[in-house]
Amino acid sequence: FSVAPILALETSCDETACAIYDGVRGLLAHSLHSQVKLHAEYGGVVPELASRDHVRRVLPLARAALAEAGLKPTELGGIAYTAGPGLIGALMVGGAAAAGLAEALGLPLIPVHHMEGHLLAPMLEPDPPAFPFVALLVSGGHTLLVDVQGVGRYRLLGESLDDAVGEAFDKTAKLLGLPYPGGPELARLAEGGVPGRFKFPRPMTDRPGLDFSFSGLKTAVLTALPKDADAQTKADLARGFEEAVTETLAIKCARALDETGHRRLVIAGGVGANRRLRARLQELAQRRGLGLYFPRPAFCTDNAAMIAYAGWARRADGRAAHDPLLTRARWPL
Ligand code: KG4
Ligand code: ZN
Repeated sequence: FSVAPILALETSCDETACAIYDGVRGLLAHSLHSQVKLHAEYGGVVPELASRDHVRRVLPLARAALAEAGLKPTELGGIAYTAGPGLIGALMVGGAAAAGLAEALGLPLIPVHHMEGHLLAPMLEPDPPAFPFVALLVSGGHTLLVDVQGVGRYRLLGESLDDAVGEAFDKTAKLLGLPYPGGPELARLAEGGVPGRFKFPRPMTDRPGLDFSFSGLKTAVLTALPKDADAQTKADLARGFEEAVTETLAIKCARALDETGHRRLVIAGGVGANRRLRARLQELAQRRGLGLYFPRPAFCTDNAAMIAYAGWARRADGRAAHDPLLTRARWPL
């Protein structure tokens, strides 16, 4: 079953992105405009500014993607877009643009769940995982462990009861005086940190279950942070925080693999770009002889390639797209 190329728009947060995916030729185009500079002076994403910038960027990006792919709009087979979860105003920009394009071109409109996009991102890599697998999705808004049986067949195994991992990284980075976006900055700072100087708790690993809690960890860092902390102390704190997070995630991944009996582990979402986390899970996979899969770093953080793939996979599967809906700020996977 072949499907003409799918063009996808991603505008759920602070990146405007467009991509085109085709089942035979693969990824034909992908482009992204990051709003990091726009939000940096506010120390976080300002939703209204994000929406306005998406309006400015989205159609030029779509035009550029078509040019990169060497396609005419009439050669497309559908328009996918991130329908949620995310910032509602930002989502509506992509949703409205996608709906307009689909209407004008007489193409199906394919709403995609942002986390399904993250979950399927490793499918864009040269050695994609077969089903079933356990997916650890770690982004700024979500921390999910999912039993993945196939496209659209997801069972939630565990999630964060408070802060998402990325959120914990960002808030802890702020405590340490690092600029937004804090996650990658904290990871960089931790490189020079002394391991073991600060030992933080591994939340919720001492009891059964696959849920997470990360809000206490930033408080633990705050409590350990001296008033006039020098640069080395901050690096050591960052290192201790990163180690507590990666160890906690590794313990829960091992548990999820035991529980499901799956032999493959996928890690995706923005925090999936973290090198220490990758190394720690690599170690787990090697020790157990498991397959470990993660997208290239650029496809861990938000992008439209993963949305184009998910939109294409839903159509190719003969699976109905989600119910017609424009956008949803909150949306369970
Ligand atoms: O998936 P993503 O781009 O957006 C959401 O869907 O939320 O994830 C963004 C999150 C942010 O919290 C960011 O700080 C974090 O991923 N992040 C990292 C790294 N790169 C991005 N956290 C730790 N280490 C990194 N290298
Ligand atoms: Zn995301």
